[in-house]
Amino acid sequence: VKLIFETAQGQRREVDARAGDNIMFTAVSHGVDGIVGECGGAAMCATCHVYLDPAFAAVLTPKQEIETEMLDCAAAEVTGASRLGCQVQITPEMEGMVVRLPEAQY
Ligand code: FES
Repeated sequence: VKLIFETAQGQRREVDARAGDNIMFTAVSHGVDGIVGECGGAAMCATCHVYLDPAFAAVLTPKQEIETEMLDCAAAEVTGASRLGCQVQITPEMEGMVVRLPEAQY
C-alpha cells in the first residue's frame, strides 16, 4: 500500500507500507523523520501525531477515547485531521494517502 509522508516543510517521501501495520510503525521502520513513537504504539505518548487526508476519513480505523485524550498532549496543533499514527491500521483502501507530519512531536 503506497503511503506518502509529507513533512511540515512540504517534503514528500513515498513508502511501500504493509496492510495491517500501523502508520507509526511503518514510518519508524522506514526511517521517516518527524514521527517518534516513543511509547511503542500504546497510545501513551502522542509522539506519533500525524494529520491524515480528510478524503480518506471513511476508511480510517475509528478513533477510540484514549486516542482523543492523548492527542490533547500532542506538541503541535491538533486539528480535525489529527490522529495518533499508532492507532491507525493500514488497509488497501489507503492507497496513495498523504500522511502529513507536524512541526514537532515534543
Ligand atoms: Fe505513543 Fe502512538 S506511539 S501514542
